[in-house]
Amino acid sequence: MTEAAGRDAGPDLESHFEATISHDQRIEPRDWMPEGYRSTLIRQIAQHAHSEIIGMQPEGEWITKAPSLRRKAILFAKVQDEAGHGLYLYSAAETLGADRADLTERLIEGRQKYSSIFNYPTLSYADVGVIGWFVDGAAICNQVPLCRSSYGPYARAMVRICKEESFHQRQGYELLMTMMRGTDAQREMVQDAVNRWWWPSLMMFGPPDDDSPNSARSMAWKIKRHSNDELRRRFVDMTVPQAARLGVTLPDPELRWNEERGHHDFGTPDFTELKEVISGNGPCNAQRIERRRAAHEEGAWVRAAAGAHAAKQAARAREEAVA
Ligand SMILES: [Fe+2]
Ligand SMILES: [Fe+2]
Repeated sequence: MTEAAGRDAGPDLESHFEATISHDQRIEPRDWMPEGYRSTLIRQIAQHAHSEIIGMQPEGEWITKAPSLRRKAILFAKVQDEAGHGLYLYSAAETLGADRADLTERLIEGRQKYSSIFNYPTLSYADVGVIGWFVDGAAICNQVPLCRSSYGPYARAMVRICKEESFHQRQGYELLMTMMRGTDAQREMVQDAVNRWWWPSLMMFGPPDDDSPNSARSMAWKIKRHSNDELRRRFVDMTVPQAARLGVTLPDPELRWNEERGHHDFGTPDFTELKEVISGNGPCNAQRIERRRAAHEEGAWVRAAAGAHAAKQAARAREEAVA
């Protein structure tokens, strides 16, 4: 269906698409769209969905080790939200003609990527707080502009996701505030987690603008609204005062307020490390994919049962319609 739609594009369809984009209106699944737009969106939404699902693992490890029932309930809710985000996003990809089973195959075979950040280990409970504060905070910087993305189903999914990300960020920050009011050992745990997660969090915004070949096209199509470096700067500006209130030091000797620019100056993340982690060589890549593959295989009977149930329901509905 999609290829035919792409091939048969007349000048009318193409100019209608261009006009919709330039008027800041939404492209919907029924509309004609260039194949490049469709495939770029499928890739981006799939990577985003995979990140939500893989992102359940680093924190999920702490559910059974949470220090109180309250913390366990909060963490459980948060990790479950991430599963929900993954599901909305796979559904958004399906509106573009993608097949969800195929996307999952691509993920577990290593043919499709997910966010580099989830390939780092969670060594202490403070990591749960720092992930909420930094990683969900970075996700908010990335995703709030996506609520205005030109593709309707993606933009609408983002509205709800962003509300939940904001809860995630606050729960992380509140957890860290509590630890900072605790013992010296707890404060050290927080500082250690901040030191380990700061640079990988800055890498979440992707390579620098002059090394990000697909960005310009995504921005022209209004899939993406701001460049990687712009979003990274926004995250730093947002996080520095929060770090001061919390009483932790961000591990960057170059970090300082630049009065003239009205922004912080900061050091350059190690983009060689980013490339390594993205290409599969991060500390936990193999473990994350292995775990995802095992969960997928163990869940086969659930999918089969749900499919059989749906078929039975449909058959019953047909019988009732005839009767
Ligand atoms: Fe999420
Ligand atoms: Fe989140």
